[in-house]
Amino acid sequence: MRVTLSVIKADVGGWVGHSHSHPEILELARKALEDAKDKKKILDYYVTACGDDLELIMTHKKGDANKEIHGIAWDIFLEGTARAKQLKLYGAGQDILKTAFSGNLKGMGPGVAEMTFEERLSEPVIIFMADKTEPGAWSIPLYKMFADPFSNPGLVIDPDMHQGFKFTVHDIVEKKEVIFSCPEEMYDMLALIGTVGRYEIKEVRRKVGNDIAAVTSTDRLNLIAGRYVGKDDPVMIVRAQKGLPDVGEVLEPFATPYFVAGWNRGSHNGPFMPVSEKDAHMSRFDGPPRVMAMGFQLAEGMLGLPADMFDDPGFDKARMECNQMADFIRRNGPFQPHRLEPSEMEYTTLSEILKKLKTRFKKA
Ligand code: 13P
Ligand code: 13P
Ligand code: MG
Ligand code: MG
Repeated sequence: MRVTLSVIKADVGGWVGHSHSHPEILELARKALEDAKDKKKILDYYVTACGDDLELIMTHKKGDANKEIHGIAWDIFLEGTARAKQLKLYGAGQDILKTAFSGNLKGMGPGVAEMTFEERLSEPVIIFMADKTEPGAWSIPLYKMFADPFSNPGLVIDPDMHQGFKFTVHDIVEKKEVIFSCPEEMYDMLALIGTVGRYEIKEVRRKVGNDIAAVTSTDRLNLIAGRYVGKDDPVMIVRAQKGLPDVGEVLEPFATPYFVAGWNRGSHNGPFMPVSEKDAHMSRFDGPPRVMAMGFQLAEGMLGLPADMFDDPGFDKARMECNQMADFIRRNGPFQPHRLEPSEMEYTTLSEILKKLKTRFKKA
């Protein structure tokens, strides 16, 4: 059976600053999706939150970028925004950047990751959801999952993975894309994706049959709005097993924490901490940036019960290291490399300050 998995998310208001999502907003989303399921518009759903971001996970048979499915999500975000305003949640409607819905959420603020595939005999999928960061945060783990045999030994051992994968990389500034075949073009790809704020991995496919393996949301709110409106807080779907990385190989990159852009005011590099669903809320310095991973075992398009993949003592050390990394980089205060580079700060008050000082600058 062909099934579409759609993960659509938006920050419609934070509960106590940008830290949590209000339970009432999640409840409102669950009710709406239960109704959509009753009316057979979707097959199944799961609603959760990562920090202040509302995450709608849906399965259906309508394909990617479907007007009705995007419309269901859009209506929930509008209803959520209205309730968030009554509750005076912080930044109510933060990710609702456009008002007129024309059938597709692309470029409107909410983040979207979707994939359509033939459901296999067994179909494990892992959905990653992040807060306080941007889509470039997925590049290191995707590279490790699909191109690094030191992280994923299946690339060597599994004859069905041995030939490697194809990566679609988006240049989000020029709005162009390029496909790299790995391992052959690994170094060319790394040269680009090392620039995390500009080149982002949109999807990964198997070379044989072109099957979809992973997809991310690559929407950049600053570029859409032309000003700082909070971080993108992206999502990613990864299929596992049988010619794809096994579940352990999908999760392994997060055991070695790395730095991502976002954190406080969306203007700081910080460690990307893998956490369980119950710990997916941000407090210290509005972070540190967090990633959660919910696993599902699809059955005829039904999501069934989620498994909380980072709810594992095996990731305790990574979390501890993240706290140490946080301490180290916090020492730099308002200086780089804790604070982001100037091109990323353009959307904040930095350009205002430069404007204000313009006449005071003298030839030196
Ligand atoms: P099991 O022997 O538990 O099925 O695990 C096989 C495997 O490939 C784990 O990655
Ligand atoms: P969000 O992008 O999660 O809304 O966070 C914004 C922020 O300014 C945190 O300090
Ligand atoms: Mg927010
Ligand atoms: Mg957020």
